[in-house]
Amino acid sequence: MKRSKLLLANLEAFYKFIGTSNIGNRRHQCNIIQARLFSRSLAAQEKLSLDRDTVYNRYEEVKQFARSDPESFWAQMAREKLKWRKDFTRVNECNLSKGEVSWFSDGQLNVSENCLDRHPREDIALIWEKDEPNQHEQVAYGELLDMTCQIAQTLLSLGVKPKDRVVIYLPTSPIAVATMLACARIGAMHCVVFAGFSASALAQRINDSGAKVVVTADKSPRGGKMIELQKIVTEALNQTATVEKVLLWQRTESKTLSGNLVDLMKESDRMPKYMEPEAFSAEDPLFMLYTSGSTGKPKGLVHTNGGYLTYTSWTHEVIFNCSKGDIYACVADVGWITGHSYLVYGPLANGVTSVLFESTPVYPDPGRYWEMVERLKINQFYAAPTAIRSLLKKGDSYPNKYDLKSLRVLGSVGEPINTEAWHWYNEVIGRSRCKIVDTWWQTETGGILISPQPSTPGSEVIPTMAMRPLPGIEPALIDPVTKEVIPKGRAADGDLCVTKPWPSMARTIWQDHERFKDTYITKEHGFYLTGDEAHQTEEGYFRITGRMDDVINISGHRLGTSEVEDAINLHPQVSESAVVGSPHAIKGEGIHAFVILKDGCEETESQLITEINSFIKKDIASFAQPEAFYFVPVLPKTRSGKIMRRILKKLSVGITDDLGDVSTLAEPSAVENIVKLIEKRK
Ligand code: WTA
Repeated sequence: MKRSKLLLANLEAFYKFIGTSNIGNRRHQCNIIQARLFSRSLAAQEKLSLDRDTVYNRYEEVKQFARSDPESFWAQMAREKLKWRKDFTRVNECNLSKGEVSWFSDGQLNVSENCLDRHPREDIALIWEKDEPNQHEQVAYGELLDMTCQIAQTLLSLGVKPKDRVVIYLPTSPIAVATMLACARIGAMHCVVFAGFSASALAQRINDSGAKVVVTADKSPRGGKMIELQKIVTEALNQTATVEKVLLWQRTESKTLSGNLVDLMKESDRMPKYMEPEAFSAEDPLFMLYTSGSTGKPKGLVHTNGGYLTYTSWTHEVIFNCSKGDIYACVADVGWITGHSYLVYGPLANGVTSVLFESTPVYPDPGRYWEMVERLKINQFYAAPTAIRSLLKKGDSYPNKYDLKSLRVLGSVGEPINTEAWHWYNEVIGRSRCKIVDTWWQTETGGILISPQPSTPGSEVIPTMAMRPLPGIEPALIDPVTKEVIPKGRAADGDLCVTKPWPSMARTIWQDHERFKDTYITKEHGFYLTGDEAHQTEEGYFRITGRMDDVINISGHRLGTSEVEDAINLHPQVSESAVVGSPHAIKGEGIHAFVILKDGCEETESQLITEINSFIKKDIASFAQPEAFYFVPVLPKTRSGKIMRRILKKLSVGITDDLGDVSTLAEPSAVENIVKLIEKRK
């Protein structure tokens, strides 16, 4: 207490010095600080560590610590988890209602140093499970550091500077990871584009980010087929103007390159194996990643160094119960946020072995994952419900062939996991002795916010519920009609928000902060708005029930309705279209497209479907192709011209009689026509 009084006196003197005239306000601030100092000294006396064991055994206390003194809680986490080149004095300077978020801003660190240089060179960083069955390669931390330093210097030699954008269009591989870390080493922002996106989608991301360099491979094998990455990049570059050089990893063959193509391996081999990591500000950008929203083109969410790495490494440790020596496998592609946070940054900051999975769950057969678990002795396995559902349909004989006793934690992410898939995962894969963690989060949140572990003892986990938030995370539900905050302890449904900032929040949308604020901050309360709907129980458990907006979730991939509609409308015979997400047994959601054709169109429906699908494949990706098409003369709209997707959603599942309130329909015949079409198909 003596120390805190002294600090308080200093603070009073400081306020006098800077001439704050509002004495009441000054007192108020001093009181807050006094309370903080008090709880800080309590925490210090008790030495409440934030390591895994403490968080598991004393979850409620850790949560209280985070709630009563968030600054000390997050500062302690940042110092426990990371190596700082320059310690920070400022912890949290956020004005959430303005969408202004800043953490540890005067601290400095290098993210790649934290992920590589800190760990013993001989420890295994990555196991690359290649597309070709039964072939894996190990990469030690020392080797990954060498590769990273060499690629970093190659990027520098091409003129890449701090904050420049580097687009990475690569298969999930050690080269992709080393390229991401190479950007981090030199302060450039990586922008990974999922290597299943089309040339147009890639071009659009290159243009929006203004990338100078693209890193790609000649080809990418997937499920035994070759994806022609280099050809796609060449096509994309015809539609872009900013790219100066393309670094090409010749994965399948070796040719002499010319023009703006630079051989990635040859160039980097010439570089020294070590390069000093430079210290960057905690608030300097680490990467941007595009994701779909309800309207407009995909947006580039920006994440920064210090807060992002603090939170991803801590959550990776406490949610997956993961530490050095563990073999951890997240089977997501490196092109999504899960691949960033829980395949690369979280695990590597923690010095564990991270498995990179290049293939598909059914190649060469539906036992691929389980054979890999047995061969690599995987301890934690993290996948999307869509994969679990598709494997469940193939029966138990595949998993039953393999020894899965190395598994301790089974994670699920990306979409709601249904009861059947949850039980199959738990019983058939986990043999009823693993912890199932249904983790809820988003590209925007940077890391997992709600998860059964560490919040809930195993026996209390309710299937399909993400359960409770991580300490420091303060979710709340908003009533969609009254916009009031639903009190805790009342069982209810509502729009899921987070009321307080946390370190790994996205900071902005690339070059569009207004859009960031408008999309993510609630006007009424200044909370972070997730876009998801959720149910809360009296005990404070959460189940995520779906999106409140026009985002469709196909096999865990986010797509905006407007993106798909824009692609459909590219067909010269299409005059207008509307798409909705409709429940799908394997994919979670599938797209149903309602299309109005131009007058005089003479093509058959099957011709049109093939052509429209090829437009979608070209403009977005093959996973965006609809499950069903309905060619209609008019769309159900309100009198103000808004498409009534609520009605289309019901129609897409065959509901034709209970369509809810249709009184605002501009043209009732719009619905009648679709009903007739559906009745005919039955
Ligand atoms: C959905 C993926 C239910 C949700 C990490 C969210 C989930 C969107 C879950 C983010 C879950 C993610 N249960 N729904 N456990 N996890 N979602 O940005 O709708 O690709 O808003 O990030 O996926 O998708 P994104």
